[in-house]
Amino acid sequence: MAESPLVWWRRQGLRFRLSVAAAAVLALALALSATVLLSVLDRALIDTVDESLGRQAQTVRVQADGNALTTPITTHDGTIVQVLDARGRITHVTFGTDRLVPLLDARTRARLLREGTATDLDGRPYAIPGPLRVVAVSADRGQTVIAARPIGEIQTSLGTAARVLLVGTPLLVVLLAVASWLMIGRTLRPIAALRRGASEITHTARSRRLPVPASRDEVHHLATTLNDMLARLEEAEQRQRALVSDASHELRSPLASIRLQLEVALGHPDGQDWQETAEGVLEDTMRLSRLAEDLLALARLDERGGVPARSEPVHLDEVVRQTMERYGEAGLSVCDPVQVRGDALDLSRVLINLVDNAVRHTSSKVDVALTADGVLTVTDDGPGIPEQDRERVFNRFTRLDSGRSRDEGGAGLGLAIVRETVRAHGGTVTLEDACPGLRAVVRLPVSPT
Ligand SMILES: Nc1ncnc2c1ncn2[C@@H]1O[C@H](COP(=O)(O)OP(=O)(O)O)[C@@H](O)[C@H]1O
Ligand SMILES: [Mg+2]
Repeated sequence: MAESPLVWWRRQGLRFRLSVAAAAVLALALALSATVLLSVLDRALIDTVDESLGRQAQTVRVQADGNALTTPITTHDGTIVQVLDARGRITHVTFGTDRLVPLLDARTRARLLREGTATDLDGRPYAIPGPLRVVAVSADRGQTVIAARPIGEIQTSLGTAARVLLVGTPLLVVLLAVASWLMIGRTLRPIAALRRGASEITHTARSRRLPVPASRDEVHHLATTLNDMLARLEEAEQRQRALVSDASHELRSPLASIRLQLEVALGHPDGQDWQETAEGVLEDTMRLSRLAEDLLALARLDERGGVPARSEPVHLDEVVRQTMERYGEAGLSVCDPVQVRGDALDLSRVLINLVDNAVRHTSSKVDVALTADGVLTVTDDGPGIPEQDRERVFNRFTRLDSGRSRDEGGAGLGLAIVRETVRAHGGTVTLEDACPGLRAVVRLPVSPT
């Protein structure tokens, strides 16, 4: 089936379409301007001839009126003149001009005199090669002055100009088409390189980058933007992979421990303290369930992308007081009324994670304080965290060595959950030196009551 030209056109490459479109527009513009040029030139040249013919005719008329005509009439620029009397007979002519037949018949003479215009005439019947331009003016006593000049030369010049344009215009169009074909090809080359780079990325290794052209143009910006995107995607993928491998790793040891305890118990059933086995298995199960909960909490935070689960007015002081009830030994020194917006459950989890850490590391006491400006601090007097690790511990699955040696420690997700929850609530969390010990400082934006 024959496809429509439009479909065919759309299927052509950008380079072809741009070149053809540019050439077509140029061809149209050049053809138009050539036509205008030729017609204006023609008009201007003929006007000049008409004007000088008119002047010549007037000069002869003045002579005729004054009865001062010479025989033959002399003109300086080769103008042919015939003077007719009232009866239409030729009385005076320029040298070499027909004395018998007037250049214009009576009707045409009358029309020219009436309209005051010039006319074209074939000169051949009067033994003049080529076309003539003729004017007529009337003089006293019914006389008529006819003046004529051959315009063959003008037409030859116009013809030459037309021929030059006819050959030159297509040449120019072809030149432009070739130039734009080459230039567009050059422009599109980096894009082709980008495409090749992209197909290589999908077919081979992930950590590839697109080729960035040296020029500082749009293609360069496109390439760098795409490379940034690739870097971010790669980073996200790596994070995801690391998370999965860390999580699997964390799952492995409690599962192995459960398995070992059960295998030992079942292998030596005699004298087995099942109570002890059950307690050990329960402890590992608790670790597993804590891990699962933490992973779920992080997944939810990731899913929501930095927005709290709920955005309700929360009386933070009440949340803090209720949460602290389960810690007998931890002291709540200040608890000013504070209202924030967010999710009460998430905020209480922040506090639990921080207090759990403090209780685990402290040597004597833990102090929790909430001030009216929305600053919540959890202070312990344990070993603290060295300056260089205070940011790092917020990363997922990051435990410091001292933390790893303690059995009761979690998987290193607690502070990550704290930071991401606080961030989702528009706040910040930092760790400071409490000399001795560590102070966790949570700053939340206070919402007016
Ligand atoms: N109050 C603290 N004093 C000393 N070290 C702490 C304290 N809180 C946290 N850390 C350190 O930061 C690490 C990360 O804490 P966290 O993210 O809560 O993980 P986890 O509690 O599961 O170990 C802990 O392993 C511990 O080494
Ligand atoms: Mg913790």
